[in-house]
Amino acid sequence: MNFGVRGQPPRGSFACGTRIVFATCRPTNSNNNRPTRLRKTLNKVLQPTGYRIGKLKELPPQAAPLETFHSFKYLRHNARRLEHLASLQLPLAGKTVLEVGAGTGDHSHFFLDRGCPMLITEARADNLQIIQQRYPQARVQALDMERPQLSSAEKFDIVYCYGLLYHLADPARALEFMAQRCREMLLLETCVSFGDDLQIHLCDEDPAEPSQAVSGRGCRPTRPWIFTELRRHFPFVYLPRTQPWHEEFPLDWSKSMAGLVRAVFIGSRQRLGNPSLINHVPAKQVRH
Ligand SMILES: C[S@@+](CC[C@H](N)C(=O)[O-])C[C@H]1O[C@@H](n2cnc3c(N)ncnc32)[C@H](O)[C@@H]1O
Repeated sequence: MNFGVRGQPPRGSFACGTRIVFATCRPTNSNNNRPTRLRKTLNKVLQPTGYRIGKLKELPPQAAPLETFHSFKYLRHNARRLEHLASLQLPLAGKTVLEVGAGTGDHSHFFLDRGCPMLITEARADNLQIIQQRYPQARVQALDMERPQLSSAEKFDIVYCYGLLYHLADPARALEFMAQRCREMLLLETCVSFGDDLQIHLCDEDPAEPSQAVSGRGCRPTRPWIFTELRRHFPFVYLPRTQPWHEEFPLDWSKSMAGLVRAVFIGSRQRLGNPSLINHVPAKQVRH
């Protein structure tokens, strides 16, 4: 059972020297933890402190990671993104890889099966536990990309950041960290906003969702913002000519559309003579 005090009570809520506070909880499998019963139990414990919970609001249950990551919607999304990545024919086999925001590791096998030694990272303990069970041979570590820090100064040939950047409130800091750790290529897929301006468009997210921002704050940067930021760290920056076969990846960037909108970027230390890549932000793309 999680519970937390939500803010300070208004002045009028002081009664007989007792501070009345408000709290939230999430249900568990145990029936003993119904809000009214829990509130009474907690108020007995809190009595000597002078605090009393006036209202305990039950929030929707927290989703188990695999309910989210193995929903049909998510599995289809992964398939479309990974087949697109494979279509770019980048030289990835055998490279060392740092994966950030790995979720439950549904992309990690793309690299492990190509003989890549990996460090798989993620901020949520529940997700990390699943990754560890799935890939006992891989190195798995906690890494919060809002305050990115690794215990060693290790660098990796490839940094793989799919589905994470838009769950961060400070995407510039995360890009800087990933560039510092990257010897060859940064592979980035993220939600973006339509527009030609340089904006990150901060937004709120639900931290109770195992796939959303741990901090509760995310962003939807424009493609030019990401491109410009990547150019600060990499001499060569590319977007694919193609987009994955999925409706969240638009082809015509002059017509904005509702819902999540995504793009793929590559930051590289070397010039890539790859016909699938272009070195500017395109107005139009095609399916691969
Ligand atoms: C949408 S999922 C993406 C999972 C996978 N990479 C993919 O593309 O399908 C976002 C992941 O980022 C993780 N995440 C959220 N905030 C994070 C943070 N500050 N640092 C690292 N990971 C974070 C979430 O726990 C979640 O597993």
